Amino acid sequence: EFHLTPRDAHLQSAGWTGTFDYQQVQRGYQVYKEVCSACHSLRHVAIRNLGELGYSEAEVKAEASSWMVPGIDPNTGESTLIEGSPTDYFPSPYPNAVAAAAANNNAVPPDLSLITKARHDGGNYVYSLLTGYADPETYTHDGKSLKEEFPDFTTPTGLNFNPYFPNLNLAMAAPLSDGQVTYADGTEASLDQMAKDVAAFLVWTAEPTLQKRHATGFPVVLFLIFASVLAFLAYRNVWRNVK
Ligand code: HEM
Repeated sequence: EFHLTPRDAHLQSAGWTGTFDYQQVQRGYQVYKEVCSACHSLRHVAIRNLGELGYSEAEVKAEASSWMVPGIDPNTGESTLIEGSPTDYFPSPYPNAVAAAAANNNAVPPDLSLITKARHDGGNYVYSLLTGYADPETYTHDGKSLKEEFPDFTTPTGLNFNPYFPNLNLAMAAPLSDGQVTYADGTEASLDQMAKDVAAFLVWTAEPTLQKRHATGFPVVLFLIFASVLAFLAYRNVWRNVK
């Protein structure tokens, strides 16, 4: 089996009491902005949502104006790109799917807003995918060589081999390599670090209320256990004289 299940990125959001490491999520936003947004939109996330990550109102405004979004030229009335505002959503760099496919060897880069929900074990999957590119000629897993097991397997020109991708070849070339970004918080931008950070960011975009859900759910479950014990003891008490 050469299609691999994701490796654990050890994200702080994992598990039923997980929380967001907002500093990490901010770094992930930086990776998204500087690398992924060249091809992928986040059409369910508004720029103003960055406020939830700890950016001030002024910082959110400054971020917004660093994005170009589809709009109308006030002079000509024609569609054009205009400076973003906090109420805009993170745009696609392509005008439409045909242009997107034409630029990417016939594959349309998916919107990433919900990708960590759409794929099983999404946070770990994104991390593993970004760090999982390999050379199919020399690739081995569990001591077995891909080329020896499947001599007919090829990676067509323009596609890239990645054992975490279900059909093993995908149109996205490895987008990250060591030192690709210079982190605002001084963290060393290794491939592994950037992949974890952008995975953490994409877990947040898909479920910004995750932390609230965990914070609510944990006490609720404790209360329900307590209430069940109480109900059982009350039942025993009510029926204690009935033989
Ligand atoms: C697909 C993430 C950068 C082009 C994907 C998928 C993910 C992803 C999660 C979906 C894989 C699946 O369907 O399971 C990212 C991240 C990036 C990034 C986190 C930044 C670190 C880029 C860049 C490009 C690109 C810069 C273009 C140069 C594509 C394309 C696909 C894709 C064309 C579709 C691949 C296929 O279906 O064969 N990306 N991506 N991505 N990405 Fe990216």
